[in-house]
Amino acid sequence: MQNNSQSRATLGGKLSAVLVAAGSSVGLGNIWRFPYVAGDNGGGAFLIIYILCVILLGLPLMLSEFSIGRATRLNAVGAFRSLNRRWSFLGYNGILAAFLILGFYFVVAGWTAEYLVHSITGDLAQLSSPEEYKSVFDNFITNPWRPILYTALFVLATHIIIALGVQKGIERSAKLLMPLLFLILIILSIHSLLMSGGTEGLKFFFTPDFSKVTPSTVLVALGQAFFSLSIGLGTMVTYASYFKPDTNLYNTALNVTILDTSVAILAGVMIFPAVFSVGIEPSSGPSLVFITLPSIFNGLPLSMVWSTIFFLLLVIAALTSTISLHEVITAYLHEEWHVSRKTAAWLTTLSTMVLASFASLSLGVWNEMKICGLSLFDALDYLTANIMLPVGGMFTCFFAGWKLDQQVLKAQITNNGAIKFRIYKLFRVLLRYFCPIVLLLVFLDNLGLF
Ligand code: PFF
Repeated sequence: MQNNSQSRATLGGKLSAVLVAAGSSVGLGNIWRFPYVAGDNGGGAFLIIYILCVILLGLPLMLSEFSIGRATRLNAVGAFRSLNRRWSFLGYNGILAAFLILGFYFVVAGWTAEYLVHSITGDLAQLSSPEEYKSVFDNFITNPWRPILYTALFVLATHIIIALGVQKGIERSAKLLMPLLFLILIILSIHSLLMSGGTEGLKFFFTPDFSKVTPSTVLVALGQAFFSLSIGLGTMVTYASYFKPDTNLYNTALNVTILDTSVAILAGVMIFPAVFSVGIEPSSGPSLVFITLPSIFNGLPLSMVWSTIFFLLLVIAALTSTISLHEVITAYLHEEWHVSRKTAAWLTTLSTMVLASFASLSLGVWNEMKICGLSLFDALDYLTANIMLPVGGMFTCFFAGWKLDQQVLKAQITNNGAIKFRIYKLFRVLLRYFCPIVLLLVFLDNLGLF
């Protein structure tokens, strides 16, 4: 695979574009991060703000990223640079963000792999109270080497898929994994809905209490929306560079957004009834999924099967997302540093593994070391989701709305006039005015400037 457009890989049919992009979007962000962030921020009100962010900011931004990627057919840095030299910083922001996200994402992905193994061996089923699950979880993540071992396994799995290349690795795995993931999630949500005592949880999740909303809630919802949709860092630019010329970009963006948001809501429906029925605090943070669900499964017949299915689901979701983050960096190194794709993949794998090991240790033996009061793990999460992605998103909207040749944008969205895009004017207003201004205001508000 070379970096000129003729010999660049492309993805197969229309479905592939949706599945591959949805594979990137749907991940731990939906199933692990969304429920605990929603739980931390009051539930129902957060959900409404989140959905508004997805529709008004996320969708236009995803469509812009798709257009930029397919117009240039280059990696994130190359894409911005080829359109306007001065804007290549946006590509670099993306590469750095992808690297930093992988630093903590691989760690959580490692936890899911460990939990999958313990589900299969039946170890998890032997515990009974939520307290026991909590102490097992705390022991595990603070252990110096076990989480690193599982993280390494996960990094290796990602590496293998990336090394197989775009068509064989990324496309095939998304086609297989995404439908499987939906099926498992729907079964578990139905089960959770049928549980006794779960209505409290549904109420928490669906009844808005706006008294809990602060400026930081809006920033967190925004960051979560961008993180979940994989936008603001060039992942969708990179993936769209492999789309076919006749792929309908708007439909693809719409489908991905709907799929991603449905998965987040389904995850809430699966988790909150469970949280309330065993009496766990919905605001218990990153451990929420790892403590709540095993203790629920434990009360069920065939608990091993349930927890195996659930953690398989998490592993699958994580893998299709780590692949996309890895691809952002690999494509950049391959095309901009002119090294082979294999070397580029190895460089990415090794460097992210080192960062992830540090992040893992920062929760245990190195927990004294703090960056602005946060562990390295939390700092990576906060910096990327709440700062780098919204900032990247803000400049990308500005770029697409004001700097990018509108003929290029229009040609991409309408496939050179072959398809109609009736809401172009609305889309342009959102891109030029609404999105950059809202993003800027949210930031200034969070800095305490109002
Ligand atoms: N969207 C992924 C998730 O929700 O888990 C995480 C992610 C993947 C973020 C790719 C950013 C990205 F570029």
